[in-house]
Amino acid sequence: MERSTSGARRVGAASGTLRDRLAAAQTEIGHLRAEVGGLRDATPAHSTQMAALLDVVAELAPATAAADVCHIAGAAVKGLVPEATVVTSYLDVAAGRFCLADVLGAERYLTVVERLIGRDPLSLGCTALEAPAHLVALYTDGRLHAIPGGLGELARGLLPGPAARGIEKVLGVGPVHVVGLAWEGRYYGGITLLLPPDADLLDRIDTIEAIARQASIALQRSFSMQAHLESEARLQASADRLRAALEATVAAMGAVMLTRDPYTDAHQRRMTALSVATARKMGLSGHDVDAVRLAGGIHDIGKVGIPAEILSRPGPLSDAEYELVKEHPQVGHDILSSIDFDWPLADIVLQHHERLDGSGYPKGLRSDEVLPAAQVLAVADVVEAMTSHRPYRPALGMEAALAEVQSGRGVRYAPAAVDACVSAVRDDGFTLPD
Ligand SMILES: [Fe+2]
Repeated sequence: MERSTSGARRVGAASGTLRDRLAAAQTEIGHLRAEVGGLRDATPAHSTQMAALLDVVAELAPATAAADVCHIAGAAVKGLVPEATVVTSYLDVAAGRFCLADVLGAERYLTVVERLIGRDPLSLGCTALEAPAHLVALYTDGRLHAIPGGLGELARGLLPGPAARGIEKVLGVGPVHVVGLAWEGRYYGGITLLLPPDADLLDRIDTIEAIARQASIALQRSFSMQAHLESEARLQASADRLRAALEATVAAMGAVMLTRDPYTDAHQRRMTALSVATARKMGLSGHDVDAVRLAGGIHDIGKVGIPAEILSRPGPLSDAEYELVKEHPQVGHDILSSIDFDWPLADIVLQHHERLDGSGYPKGLRSDEVLPAAQVLAVADVVEAMTSHRPYRPALGMEAALAEVQSGRGVRYAPAAVDACVSAVRDDGFTLPD
């Protein structure tokens, strides 16, 4: 009940996010329409810009990594402003730093730059706190800004002044422009244009800003997706740990029988192996096979309440002793019922001596009142018990055991469980472990 409720909550939250994204996408389509409309009746140069913008939209659609978004947007801006050196940067969430993605148009100078600054220029980066505050403000409004102090001002805090001036000289840099890749006031990266002294961007500003806006949307999507995947992975790891802890608890409970009653311990292990083979043969789901495996390992845990001399006594039990033995499914249920397993282990254990015709115990349940996992355990329990030596009788053999469950097929035992058990032994060669 609790799981389905939390599942419904999560679906609701996801729908809310999708609605937000849909609304954002519709707003963006409105922007694009306006931009395309403005460009349509303009010069051939504007038509080229419109084509570039549409290309970048198509290329960004499948991009999921922040660096890929920067490669696509940077290349588009470089195509639009071939005379510029185009530098793209993005926020590396895992490292908590802004990183350079590309320096387009200065490739042949990168080694010179590396010599000037003493490190690979692409390894430059800074945290949000290290970035100069007056520049961060410029990066969040989606507009293309000229940096009055040029590269020296842009790189302040990242590069020593002489290195920045050296780079300006080597690259012949004049005006420097930046446009942030930002969404709702949050800065995810940026595109920087280092221009020759006589460059004029006026007729391309709108398109550059439109490309930046598309890249911002793609980056925001990339970070949301990454955050979602990381949160899913954390949830899964936590669920795996919980499941492992529960399985260890079950194993520890099963092992209790080893010290007290070696017959019951061996019976539980062998019967579990046959139960799992039967459940798999029946085509039960992995979750149900796990239920059979875990319940099998502790199905007789309730025998801790029976004096050891009764369990290991040669010869038949008195009526009073037999009544005591018949309490073990209920005792086992009571031991397990307070633990919140992923499977109804307490009920499966409670029902493992029930029979379809109501002749079992402790409740005398009938047919579909008995859980499928308990129906499997019931068949494997009888087969294993008959093939094993007991203090009061020798082992009766596998054939006699299979004949017993087949004779009760559809009467005491579930037909599917009997058929699967017999087939696992006869067709697949299953043998009980030692
Ligand atoms: Fe039992």
